[in-house]
Amino acid sequence: MAGIAVYSVKGGVGKTTLAVNLAWAAASISRRRTLLWDLDAANGSGFLLGVDPRKKRSADSIFAEGSDPAKLIRETAYPGLDLLPADESIRTLDRTLDRLGKKKRLARVTEGLAKEYERIIFDCPPVLNELSAQIIRAADLVIVPLPPSPLSARALEAVTEEVRSAGKGHPPILPVLSMLDLRRSLHKAAREANPDWPAIPLASAVEQCAVERRPVGALAPRSAAARAVTGLWTAVERKLARG
Ligand SMILES: Nc1ncnc2c1ncn2[C@@H]1O[C@H](COP(=O)(O)OP(=O)(O)OP(=O)(O)O)[C@@H](O)[C@H]1O
Ligand SMILES: [Mg+2]
Repeated sequence: MAGIAVYSVKGGVGKTTLAVNLAWAAASISRRRTLLWDLDAANGSGFLLGVDPRKKRSADSIFAEGSDPAKLIRETAYPGLDLLPADESIRTLDRTLDRLGKKKRLARVTEGLAKEYERIIFDCPPVLNELSAQIIRAADLVIVPLPPSPLSARALEAVTEEVRSAGKGHPPILPVLSMLDLRRSLHKAAREANPDWPAIPLASAVEQCAVERRPVGALAPRSAAARAVTGLWTAVERKLARG
């Protein structure tokens, strides 16, 4: 099993969109048994996959001793792709984890899920706290979406510092240029400065994901954006294989 966090300290950079699309690619293209774990109370991943929330707010109960994750996991419309949805109970998770005082609680739960899943993708909230620290400890790779802007560069610095502070054996970071629009000079400059970073174009097909509540690979499989997602997923698999 490999855990992949889609994370930034910055909000609105495309984390949820990328997490959903990568999870779709893992299940549909690589045929991996995949779990998308939404750790942001807004439940964006569930929304984008067309999975409506249950009334009971119990997403945080997965961290309770002896809890059964199978009771919380939902199937999606896509073979091989399951969802661990978020709800409002996640909002206080940071404090709950702090109180538990077990630095690897989330990593333990993740290990428990490894029997069922080959790929676990974490959709992270834009925070820098005990929750993000625990996600980083559970991850084998941290993907950081960066819309080209000076503020994104600062967010990458903050993430890099946080990941390194996890100590020896911390996961590698894969920066990804997100919402890239090469008609804009700032974006062009960012692309030229980082030719090796994977990129996802700014695309109406990606925006449509939130309207149709389907991943771009299902919605517009031949679009440039869908091809970019597939390319990125292939790069992720290669990086995981290298270890
Ligand atoms: N490649 C893209 N092209 C066009 N629009 C995009 C692209 N990626 C993301 N968006 C849009 O940008 C907005 C923010 O995306 P998203 O919700 O995925 O970001 P986020 O980092 O998860 O935000 P938050 O920090 O609030 O969780 C959404 O409206 C989404 O549809
Ligand atoms: Mg999000």
